[in-house]
Amino acid sequence: MIEQNTQIIFNKKIAPGTFLMGLRSAEIVIQARPGQFVMIRVGPNTDPLLRRPFSICGTRGDDLFLILYKVVGKGTAIMSNAVKGEKLSVVGPLGRGFELPEPGRKSIFVSGGIGVAPLVFLAQAVKSNLLFIAGYRSANEIVPMEQVGLNLTDISIATDDGTAGHPGFVTELLASHLTESAEGHLKIFTCGPLPMLKRVAALTIERDIPCQVSLEATMACGLGACQGCAVRASKDGNKTYYHVCQDGPVFDVHTIDWESL
Ligand SMILES: Cc1cc2nc3c(=O)[nH]c(=O)nc-3n(C[C@H](O)[C@H](O)[C@H](O)COP(=O)(O)OP(=O)(O)OC[C@H]3O[C@@H](n4cnc5c(N)ncnc54)[C@H](O)[C@@H]3O)c2cc1C
Ligand code: FES
Repeated sequence: MIEQNTQIIFNKKIAPGTFLMGLRSAEIVIQARPGQFVMIRVGPNTDPLLRRPFSICGTRGDDLFLILYKVVGKGTAIMSNAVKGEKLSVVGPLGRGFELPEPGRKSIFVSGGIGVAPLVFLAQAVKSNLLFIAGYRSANEIVPMEQVGLNLTDISIATDDGTAGHPGFVTELLASHLTESAEGHLKIFTCGPLPMLKRVAALTIERDIPCQVSLEATMACGLGACQGCAVRASKDGNKTYYHVCQDGPVFDVHTIDWESL
């Protein structure tokens, strides 16, 4: 993990309210693993004071890493106005990432909204034998995969409002792929809003399908120091707390106490 002033190589809008930023750091690129994140100071001023967490969405070459982000508040609005050549202070890579699937197992990636970001990086590592199911609220939120460096042959889209792909929730699409014959050969990787994650957790736990979940939590430090990101978990049958920033953000689906979330 390092702290570094990284130069913005590009910062472009790829869908309404959604931006792809390329930052230069050979040191972060060499350490980054799919599922890990960075804490970014979004501007030179103290407002906002706290760094913001973002998944690493991929790397390009030896020294460029990508952040795919949605503008939701003050920090991300400041980021969206940053231009090529500016520098942002970044701490990372942080947290525990995904474990790659065993050879021969088919992976199904399930994303909701901007939760697509860490799964793009994972897809670049897994490369084959994977189905990517991406859910969005509406067609205008769809992240063009080729713009984030992913050329997938097997991708399905669901939109809540039915404006593209399957009309309805992404978890309905997932359920349609969980046939009895396939269950023993699958591994699920997921990131997205909590209600979606809960449904994916229920579907995979009841069918005993291995599943890794990337959780989000409010993070003040990203380093295990502030306790702000604690989630209820279960370890050796006992209830405990995990820090999403250090013990995660990626967890085995069974370790989380889903009812407490
Ligand atoms: C490990 C991790 C990885 C993340 N990766 C990405 C990513 O790749 N791309 C991306 O766009 N976002 C990602 N996020 C969420 C991102 O950190 C927040 O969107 C960002 O901090 C918002 O900052 P802001 O100043 O713009 O908004 P704020 O002004 O802080 O908040 C604006 C609104 O967004 C909500 N919000 C703030 N933080 C979060 C959060 N963590 N989860 C859900 N809602 C939140 C607030 O409740 C509020 O309603 C990630 C979060 C975590 C914990
Ligand atoms: S964000 Fe501070 S302990 Fe996790």
